[in-house]
Amino acid sequence: KKEEKKQIRVWCDGCYDMVHFGHANSLRQAKALGDVLIVGVHTDEEIAKHKGPPVFTQEERYKMVRAIKWVDQVVEGAPYVTTLETLEKYQCDFCVHGDDITVTADGIDTYHMVKKAGKYREVLRTAGVSTTDLVGRMLLLTREHFKRGDKEYSVALEHSSNLGTDSTARSPYTGCSQFLPTTQKIIQFSSGLSPKPTDKVVYVAGAFDLFHVGHLDFLEQAHAQGDFLIVGLHTDLEVNRYKGSNYPIMNLHERVLSVLACKILNSGNTMTTEDIVQRIIAHRLEF
Ligand code: CTP
Repeated sequence: KKEEKKQIRVWCDGCYDMVHFGHANSLRQAKALGDVLIVGVHTDEEIAKHKGPPVFTQEERYKMVRAIKWVDQVVEGAPYVTTLETLEKYQCDFCVHGDDITVTADGIDTYHMVKKAGKYREVLRTAGVSTTDLVGRMLLLTREHFKRGDKEYSVALEHSSNLGTDSTARSPYTGCSQFLPTTQKIIQFSSGLSPKPTDKVVYVAGAFDLFHVGHLDFLEQAHAQGDFLIVGLHTDLEVNRYKGSNYPIMNLHERVLSVLACKILNSGNTMTTEDIVQRIIAHRLEF
C-alpha cells in the first residue's frame, strides 16, 4: 500500500492593510513551498501598537486575505511576533515572510523565534509596490505612476505578435526587458481556465483601482449571476479621462494582477492568459 505523503503546512502573517499584488505575490510564493497555506492577520489594536493604525479595519483585512486564491485558511488576530506555539497550534511546518525585516515597537525582529528554531523561509519581496508607496501616489497627486506604466505597456504591445514568448522587448528607459516579467507574472497569477460551452458568462468592466473590499463584494455579486465571470479592465488613459486628477493610482498591469489574485476568478471562472492579453489590447482599442 502506498504511503500517504504528509502535507506541508505553511504559515504567513502580516497586517495586509490595503492589500496589493505584492502581498498576493508573497502568498503565491509561500504556497508554492508547501501544500496548505495558513495566513495569520493582526488585529487593529496590535498594528496600532507596533506601527500605527491601519487604513482598513480587521474585518475588511480578514475578508481581503481570505479572497486571495492561494490562501487556504485565515487566522484572525494572529500575534505580531510569530511564536513556535502559533506554528504548533496550526500544525505549520515553517513560517514564510518577504526578505525585508519586520520589527516590533521595541525594535525586535518579529521572526526571531522561528528563525532560531530553523522554521523560517524567505521569499522575494515584490519591488515597486507597498502600502506606503500607494498612499504616496494618492497624496502627492503624481501622474507619472500611470503614465510610465502605460508607456511600458505600449512597448509590450508592439511585440504583441509574439505574446508570451518574446524576450526581446526592451524598456526605452533602462534597456532591460520589461515585457517578459509582466507576462510571466500574469501567467503566474492566472489559472488559465476557459468557460464551458454551457456556462452562463457574466462580463463586468471597470478600473478596479486599489482593489478593495467594495470591489470584492461587487465581483461576488456579479459572479452569483452566472457561472463564469470575465472582468475587463479599462486602460490607464481611459480611467484618467473619466476620473481625472492623478487617477488611476495603479497602472493597468498592477490592476490586472490585483483582480487576478482573487479566489473568485479561480474556480472555473477565469479567463486564459491569452484572453487577458487580448482583452487588454481590445480595451485599448475600444475606448
Ligand atoms: N510583501 C511583499 N512584497 C511587497 C509588500 C509586502 O512580499 N511589496 C510581503 C511582506 O514581506 C510580508 C507580507 O507581504 O511577508 C505581509 O506584509 P505586511 O505585514 O502586510 O506589511 P509590509 O511588509 O509592511 O507591506 P506594505 O509595506 O505594503 O504595507
